Amino acid sequence: MMIWIDKLRRDHALAPDEYRQLLATTDTDAVEYLHRQAREVALRQFGHDIYIRGLIEVGNRCRNNCYYCGIRAANMSVARYELTKEQILTSCREGYKLGFRTFVLQGGEKSGSYAMWEDVVSEIRLAYPDCAITLSLGEMTRSEYEGLFRAGANRYLLRHETYNADHYRRLHPESMSREHRLQCLQWLKETGYQTGTGIMVGSPGQTLDHLVEDICFIRRFQPQMIGIGPFIPQHDTPFRDCRPGSADLTLRLLSIFRLMFPSVLIPATTALSTLLPDGKARGILAGANVVMPNLSPAAYRSSYALYDNKAAMGTEAAEGLALLKQELDKIGYRISTARGDFK
Ligand code: 5AD
Repeated sequence: MMIWIDKLRRDHALAPDEYRQLLATTDTDAVEYLHRQAREVALRQFGHDIYIRGLIEVGNRCRNNCYYCGIRAANMSVARYELTKEQILTSCREGYKLGFRTFVLQGGEKSGSYAMWEDVVSEIRLAYPDCAITLSLGEMTRSEYEGLFRAGANRYLLRHETYNADHYRRLHPESMSREHRLQCLQWLKETGYQTGTGIMVGSPGQTLDHLVEDICFIRRFQPQMIGIGPFIPQHDTPFRDCRPGSADLTLRLLSIFRLMFPSVLIPATTALSTLLPDGKARGILAGANVVMPNLSPAAYRSSYALYDNKAAMGTEAAEGLALLKQELDKIGYRISTARGDFK
């Protein structure tokens, strides 16, 4: 096992079955070794700097019905909201004062409209020429992606969720298409966005073979950012009674991606922190180099309920940067207020 880990660090790739064995192994020394190698690679690349991104949850209206997600269209129990342009700009202003130089606008696929996003992005670009604007607004047309890029957006996050066609079908209704999701990712890259993709770990029906397919897809796609968090059930969804994903497996994947892509940007996700109280530290020690504290107006945070018990306070909150600083300090890391582009 150790030999494969060394090989992964050296060649940035393994054979599919070798990835599978790394995911399946019960050898805890090997897993510790995997995390240590990934940590070293991240240290060599980024030092002890952790990039911060201010996450603004711009709205929870959605036209889709992903079986796992708490803001799916069919969920009548969630209070729907949409931030105004002014509220978003106020969040940016507060974030800027706190030291954020990346704003991430994330929302359901029926929050705002294309015209509104073009306007919002242009205004943020004008007010904060030194900041990166990341969008996470789901599937759009190619010309919409291009328009928002021209308006000043730099990065786009769109997880493929799962590469396997049967598994994709298990997670999404017929109205959604894996092929279209992959097409969108291609468009984003061609448009010039630093593009992020990723998966949920332990979503219902997922097997280790599916995860190996995800790894191989991500290798071909060569994203600049990779988001990986455990699946966590949400009580108003068809998957309410399913078991959450494994934090251990999430951390293994994180380390594998770090070894595959030394300079890729990988967040220690909120979902991981929701599952493990020390998830952020564990993620960083396994190779993550980004955290995304919540910069949304506090009154709306509980409505952006993708999954149950979602952490939005403490070190997950932008106002909690002091706390985050302390937590990073404990493991010898520090916040970087650099823009932190992919290099
Ligand atoms: N558990 C974990 N992650 C989830 N997401 C949506 N629903 C859940 C859930 N129940 C993730 C998806 C999506 C991102 C914004 O949130 O991967 O891409």
